[in-house]
Amino acid sequence: MAGSLTPADPLASVPPPGGRRLAVRLRPAAQRAVRGGHPWVFDRSITHCTPGGQAGDLAVIFDHQRRFLAVGLYDPASPLRVRVLARGAPQAVDGEFLCRRLRAAAALRRSLDTPRTTAFRLVHGENDGLPGLVLDRYEATLVLKLYTPAWVPWLPALRAALAEALPHERLVLRFDRRSAARPELLHGLHDGDTVVGAPPPGAVPFYENGLRFQADVVRGHKTGFFLDQRDNRARVEAVAAGRRVLDVFAYTGGFALYAARGGAAAVSVVDGSLPALATCRRHFALNHDWPGVAAVVPDVRQGDAFAALAELAARGAVYDLVVVDPPAMAKRQAEVTTALRAYARLTSLALGVLAPGGTLVMASCSSRLSPDALASAVLRAAARAGRRLRETARTGHPLDHPVAFPEGAYLCCLFASES
Ligand SMILES: C[S@@+](CC[C@H](N)C(=O)[O-])C[C@H]1O[C@@H](n2cnc3c(N)ncnc32)[C@H](O)[C@@H]1O
Repeated sequence: MAGSLTPADPLASVPPPGGRRLAVRLRPAAQRAVRGGHPWVFDRSITHCTPGGQAGDLAVIFDHQRRFLAVGLYDPASPLRVRVLARGAPQAVDGEFLCRRLRAAAALRRSLDTPRTTAFRLVHGENDGLPGLVLDRYEATLVLKLYTPAWVPWLPALRAALAEALPHERLVLRFDRRSAARPELLHGLHDGDTVVGAPPPGAVPFYENGLRFQADVVRGHKTGFFLDQRDNRARVEAVAAGRRVLDVFAYTGGFALYAARGGAAAVSVVDGSLPALATCRRHFALNHDWPGVAAVVPDVRQGDAFAALAELAARGAVYDLVVVDPPAMAKRQAEVTTALRAYARLTSLALGVLAPGGTLVMASCSSRLSPDALASAVLRAAARAGRRLRETARTGHPLDHPVAFPEGAYLCCLFASES
């Protein structure tokens, strides 16, 4: 029949993995790290590698006695040259292997999967044995985010494994910025492509702890929502009653919405992104059946968070609870000092609008910043400002963002109140 309406399969032009096995040997320290379970091998740790490897080839790592150590995904253009998939005994990396990993990851999250919460992380990269690969679920939509093009040749196998292990209606593909910048390795695929089902007609609706949200899974930050802050948002809800709440770096207003449901007297949000703030307004409108949400009209401000905090203080604005959740400030070790200075600055700005006896919630999503360093930067800045801030809680990762190696721990949230 002429003019068939069946859309072409976006994965049709992706060539299968080359089938090559690259033999790799490492410096002693890296060998010990891999044996101990570390999932990363950097180019500088490699003493020998079969030449000519392509992104997505399997690298087989041998120890100095030529015994099998591990097998991983090879990426010749990244300093993170091999991401370890399995170690110990040799094993086939195929559809069965991928299915096993997906099922194990899903089993870990079974308790999260309730009608009240229909979005969560299903696969958290190396921490679930699938390095450089994140999979988030928003109801029947799965969003697969790749942090290395080495996964691209594996996409047809991954898609088949997902269909078997985690039935879904739609699969959207996302690439991190570095992978998206290497189109020659993407075989015509683009960030935001739908590779199973119909493209989402708009933002994808879901529930988190009974609140209605929408995620722009095609263009939004991460895979469309900051799923990792779910438990911290619930903590904020629990202490929000009767308080004036300011949500800084709010994105689509998750913290503010929980605070409103918790009975906040007033909520304000600040973010730099206009589309995120439009979604924030929609989130409030979608949740009017919660009396607390219906009772407040959020004050929504677009702008630079540092400038907005200074301006609010200059105008005499006062809040009882201030949440500050900036983007990753230290992606490299060299940025740690600057990041800690930025946290100190944010603390002093937030204290400029915090009522006496108020609560400051400060989050960090940089694995380079240790929780102790964050806490000390915040508490010392408070002391310099003459405020008696006391740490009341410090949280880490939620159940669906497990931590399996030191660099995997990136999330920390500090709750501090004035005594
Ligand atoms: C980690 S996300 C916040 C997540 C949010 N708290 C939530 O629960 O969904 C960081 C946010 O900071 C915003 N942002 C980044 N730099 C900013 C700046 N200088 N001023 C204001 N917002 C900024 C981004 O648009 C993004 O929405």
